[in-house]
Amino acid sequence: MAAPLRPDLLERLALQTAKREHAQLFRQLRTIDHADGPWLESGGRRLLSFCSNDYLGLAQHRELIDAFRRAASEEGVGSTSAHLICGHRTEHAELEEALAAWTGRERALLFSTGYMANLGVLQALLARGDVCVQDKLNHACLVDGARLSGATLKRYPHADAAAAARQLTANPNAAALLATDGVFSMDGDVAPLRELATLCAAEHATLLVDDAHGLGVLGEHGAGSVRAAGLSQQEVPLLMATLGKALGCAGAFVAGPSELITGLMQFARPYIYTTAMPPALAAAGLVAVQLAQSEQWRRDKLAARIAQFRRGAAQLGLPLAPSESAIQPLLLGDAAAAMEAARTLERRGLLVTAIRPPTVPAGSARLRITLSTAHEATHVDQLLSALEALHLPRSSD
Ligand SMILES: Cc1ncc(COP(=O)(O)O)c(C=O)c1O
Repeated sequence: MAAPLRPDLLERLALQTAKREHAQLFRQLRTIDHADGPWLESGGRRLLSFCSNDYLGLAQHRELIDAFRRAASEEGVGSTSAHLICGHRTEHAELEEALAAWTGRERALLFSTGYMANLGVLQALLARGDVCVQDKLNHACLVDGARLSGATLKRYPHADAAAAARQLTANPNAAALLATDGVFSMDGDVAPLRELATLCAAEHATLLVDDAHGLGVLGEHGAGSVRAAGLSQQEVPLLMATLGKALGCAGAFVAGPSELITGLMQFARPYIYTTAMPPALAAAGLVAVQLAQSEQWRRDKLAARIAQFRRGAAQLGLPLAPSESAIQPLLLGDAAAAMEAARTLERRGLLVTAIRPPTVPAGSARLRITLSTAHEATHVDQLLSALEALHLPRSSD
């Protein structure tokens, strides 16, 4: 008898890759040779970037760099171990305290990335037989965390609290967690947090808000979308956010009641079985938190840039999405059209990413424009005139 023909995994991957390229969905890496505020140098060209998540312009702040340098020269580069072995340093402890105080939570726990934080919290809390209800446009790591946990994943249409309610009431006896982005990463709109919190309270479900794109930008003192919605720790017991966006660093945290944090330290595998972030990064993170909290002018300047862009884009009839945040997508629909628009902008010296499926649903490819405190009014003017020259379909067409 002939031996069964096992599929060759590398061949299969190569085939899938070729299909992706054919469908104009191929992803390619770009090396940035130098960053200088919103300016990036790549392949010998200087480009004005509208695609970073450095919303408050902190990534190259002198005080962050000094704190990073000081801690690295005193403590070394690596933390040398997981938190629970000997990797947890004073810098981590101080940053956790500052994050808890800022977000109005009892305690916070650092993770090396936001991806790991979401995997960790969902895997630690949920088990087979439980239900995890999520917005359809949630970030991939929330979806992956629910899959990893073994719980039944239900996804409701974007921002539709009534549909979320139906999914929760259909499973009245299962332990339930509802997870949502605070600010949606590819759309820039804010989740209906108060409605979702009211629903979770009524249905005895636990609410998790991923505020990766809200922290630093929204709410009093930049405490995020949950603070902006006036929701307490009791209403949102699971708050996750990252340090790699408005805070200009890298890493993430989960904040909430003390017993949640103690439990995550016992059961969140992406917390337990990994090397703690470098202490110098935590030292820089602490300075970033202090600046983000105290320097309101950064949020005011960002708000002015957002208003300027939206005003100009509306005058040009560009296909704007209903977003008031630093994320301002222009919805083009077709992946090839989005790629062509990004290439044309790049020829004019502007870097704007085309976001295509599977990152966004089929037929909703877009230019994801992000604004920052580091942008001046002249930069936004430059972007608007380049967009005008693209002759995109007008939003009323
Ligand atoms: C909403 C959201 N959650 C989580 C993450 C993951 O965070 P990190 O980049 O720190 O892994 C991202 C983006 O990266 C995000 O946009």
